Amino acid sequence: MKILVIGGGGREHALAWKLAQSARVKRVYLAPGNAGTALDSRFENVNVTGVEELGAWALANKIALTVVGPEGPLAAGVVDEFRKHGLRVFGPSRAAAQLESSKAFSKAFMQRHGIPTADYETFTEAAAAHAYLDRKGSPIVVKADGLAAGKGVVVAMTLEEAHQAVDFMLGGLQQPGQTGVQVPRVVIEEFLAGEEASFIVLCDGRNVLPLATSQDHKRLLNDDQGPNTGGMGAYSPAAVVTPDVHARAMREIILPTIRGMEKDGIAYTGFLYAGLMIDASGRPKTLEFNCRLGDPETQPILMRLKTDLVEVLLAATEPGLHGRLDDLELQWDRRTALGVVMAAQNYPMQPRQGDLITGLPEEAEDAVVFHAGTALKDGQPVTAGGRVLCVTVLADNVRQAQQRAYEVASAIHFDGKQYRTDIGHRAARS
Ligand code: AMP
Ligand code: GLY
Repeated sequence: MKILVIGGGGREHALAWKLAQSARVKRVYLAPGNAGTALDSRFENVNVTGVEELGAWALANKIALTVVGPEGPLAAGVVDEFRKHGLRVFGPSRAAAQLESSKAFSKAFMQRHGIPTADYETFTEAAAAHAYLDRKGSPIVVKADGLAAGKGVVVAMTLEEAHQAVDFMLGGLQQPGQTGVQVPRVVIEEFLAGEEASFIVLCDGRNVLPLATSQDHKRLLNDDQGPNTGGMGAYSPAAVVTPDVHARAMREIILPTIRGMEKDGIAYTGFLYAGLMIDASGRPKTLEFNCRLGDPETQPILMRLKTDLVEVLLAATEPGLHGRLDDLELQWDRRTALGVVMAAQNYPMQPRQGDLITGLPEEAEDAVVFHAGTALKDGQPVTAGGRVLCVTVLADNVRQAQQRAYEVASAIHFDGKQYRTDIGHRAARS
């Protein structure tokens, strides 16, 4: 069968890599893909964008199954469009994708269904937001409502930062070195202390199948310093998600969410990613929902997945009231997987593009370099985005995985390359 992966980042490269391993697959197409997928004979990049165009292309090319990587097309209704044509697609409808695309929707949803999350209020008026901040004090968190590509969250340790964030988001104030985000609403929420983990599951509208646990590193620099990014590295499994935390996350967060969506008449299908904050007593709270796989979490998670992902997604999208994910169990490699993101100069602000990438290794059983922001220039891979590559490895423990990943990363070169040298540090310490 022919499969389409929508997107062109590291997450989509890893999805395509995993799907292509299935004996049932003839060809994996990526729209638009990247240099890594262009250079690999298992894949074919197609230059199609826009929800309607993608649907028409999939129909004309007899695509048996489509998997959507990023939130953009999901929030734009790509799943609704594909279903309208009777095409099989794995992802949430536009209405269900609001769990990610609208913070106000997801916070109200969690409150309505008793799902643990930080206390919050929503504001459209700057004056009311400022008054609320003064009442609550710091630390406090200010979030833009809407997709703001990681730039929409300010964890303010001082009230001054919090007031600035409100002016910036509601007033569209430009700050030096920052691209302005202006949004109609902000969410102001309680600061949660603890350790974060990414908890990602597959849903077929009713049944839920958890993926292996993982932890992302959102800050640019070692020791979690510097600005927030889309993610500088990840590993799986995440030790902080003990069996007890796992059971609580399923019972208190994931299952009530799926039931709640079903009850609200918006059955949830697709990957659901709960960003968890786990406090010292092991109690998980929901920081946010994403309606998709995490990037870079997907790269290490899929390297550990032994089960045929095509079979899983076919079960999840079986026509009918809901799928049959309840029939399945996922098998995982017992080793640790660890992914190190190599980013372009100036990421996350205005990453420089067009630098030649050399020293890419052959794919190995225990080491794959997934491409993200790359393009081809005269047949050679060059940088074309902020996060350029994700070096992903398997090893017996976190320390060995770090060693292997950094061995591979240090042999790859492009001008201005930057990467953290402490991915997995929380697990390596213990
Ligand atoms: P988000 O985009 O909502 O995941 O937020 C980005 C990052 O900001 C998260 O990964 C956390 O590190 C941090 N963050 C968000 N909300 C809170 C909160 N209520 N308390 C503490 N940190 C938070
Ligand atoms: N790595 C965080 C995300 O995908 O949202």
